[in-house]
Amino acid sequence: MKIVAADVQKRFVLSGKQRISSDGTETAELQVLKDFNLQVNAGEFLVIVGPSGCGKSVFLNILGGLAHKTDGSVTIDGNEVTEPNEQLGYVFQQYALFPWRTALSNIEYPLEIRGVNAAERQKKARDLLRLIGLTSFEKWRPNQLSGGMQQRIAIARALAINPEVLLMDEPFAALDNQTRELLQVELLRIWEGIHNTVVFVTHSIEEAVFLADRVVIMTSRPGKVKEIVSINIPRPRNDYTRSSTKFAGYRQRVWDILKDEVYKTQDNMEKSALSSQL
Ligand SMILES: Nc1ncnc2c1ncn2[C@@H]1O[C@H](COP(=O)(O)OP(=O)(O)OP(=O)(O)O)[C@@H](O)[C@H]1O
Ligand SMILES: [Mg+2]
Repeated sequence: MKIVAADVQKRFVLSGKQRISSDGTETAELQVLKDFNLQVNAGEFLVIVGPSGCGKSVFLNILGGLAHKTDGSVTIDGNEVTEPNEQLGYVFQQYALFPWRTALSNIEYPLEIRGVNAAERQKKARDLLRLIGLTSFEKWRPNQLSGGMQQRIAIARALAINPEVLLMDEPFAALDNQTRELLQVELLRIWEGIHNTVVFVTHSIEEAVFLADRVVIMTSRPGKVKEIVSINIPRPRNDYTRSSTKFAGYRQRVWDILKDEVYKTQDNMEKSALSSQL
């Protein structure tokens, strides 16, 4: 097992105005993850869906060593995660490229800080630019590129270190639908070549079913795993996959499991909005 999360708890200590809960009472803590258990196989493409605020990003940050859990255990290859891991690639919703660097030197960056020499890192970065179809843009800066191009570069940068584990937090959320579907196909094509372990968070059920080996559905906060659906759709998947009846069946199944949690979250938000008006 590549990744094992066992009985993970995450609580935030609240201060001042944060303390007023949805029913108007005062609470000192916000429990975000409660008894969160998950195992991810090596080489698996795992996708997590769950209502807004259920703790998906918090879990990814803990897995990436960027945040601390309150209790429980999270291991990668049997080692407890306690700090940012060199073997990890991270792609966020915001493209987070360095605006002053060119496309090529953005991809080179993680190699640079690891002390890889210039010739070697340029070769690697050029290979990746070719892989994402942006060879002729190597000298362009992020603000001269479209959102889709920027996100391709962010993915290439995360891949530059050959990460054994790639964490992706809603990487395509800011893109238009056509670009998004195109990038999903591209991502799968790249992943099928390297077959590293991917943990991918999204709000889109279609995206989840299209990409995943398994889709994890989380409960509303405090978040834990509600159910896991294995997606038995053969690979390589392509645009025709989306129009198959099997695909529609999985999409419906995931939504059936998720919808109660989304409604619960909506109810809580409405209560919270009402209580703040009182
Ligand atoms: N530093 C913090 N202090 C207090 N609460 C926090 C902090 N960071 C996150 N939270 C809370 O933890 C909960 C989960 O946040 P998280 O960002 O993981 O949600 P999410 O599932 O990723 O939601 P979304 O789908 O909207 O991105 C939220 O209620 C958020 O307010
Ligand atoms: Mg999030």
